[in-house]
Amino acid sequence: MNFLVVSCSLNPESRSRLLALSIKENFESKEEKVQFLDLAEKQIPFCDGDQVYSEPITDELAECISSADGIILCVPIYNYDVNAAAKNLIELTGRNWMGKVVGFACAAGGNGSYMSVMGVANSLMLDFRCHIVPRFVYALGDAFQGNAITDPELVERVEELSAEMVRVSKSLIAN
Ligand SMILES: Cc1cc2nc3c(=O)[nH]c(=O)nc-3n(C[C@H](O)[C@H](O)[C@H](O)COP(=O)(O)O)c2cc1C
Repeated sequence: MNFLVVSCSLNPESRSRLLALSIKENFESKEEKVQFLDLAEKQIPFCDGDQVYSEPITDELAECISSADGIILCVPIYNYDVNAAAKNLIELTGRNWMGKVVGFACAAGGNGSYMSVMGVANSLMLDFRCHIVPRFVYALGDAFQGNAITDPELVERVEELSAEMVRVSKSLIAN
């Protein structure tokens, strides 16, 4: 199995990146193959629905998505949605998402936005028949100190999401 963890925040002090790194470590501890894609480390153009599809970076991103069986999107919540960089990645890579198992780990500023990934989850299901793992990680700032995840409940939820991603992906491949 190939897993992909995508860190979607462009903020150098991102908390969702800490979630992403922790999820990657969880996959590694299970001896699963995992790739890490940090959108902040790439120069990614906005999707114009046209010329951008001929750019090498678009092919590179498409390859990352298509080679993964299961993908965990680690996203900042902006304006009750995933951030624009996450949405842009999906616009750029389109059909490469077909049939993938997708999970979400979110960093947010408040509890009220906990359903914010549902829009993008719906679009992945409707457009690309993705299987959404129905166990989200949703973390607020007080669960972190510096670069560490300090809330034990959050650590547990990250482990549960990683384990569920492996279980669902393997079950689907087996059938
Ligand atoms: C433009 C912007 C919009 C935001 N909108 C929301 C929001 O709708 N709901 C929320 O809970 N937090 C919101 N936040 C807070 C972020 O979700 C929070 O800072 C989170 O840690 C960002 O993820 P990151 O640390 O991985 O970059 C917003 C922050 C920014 C900068």
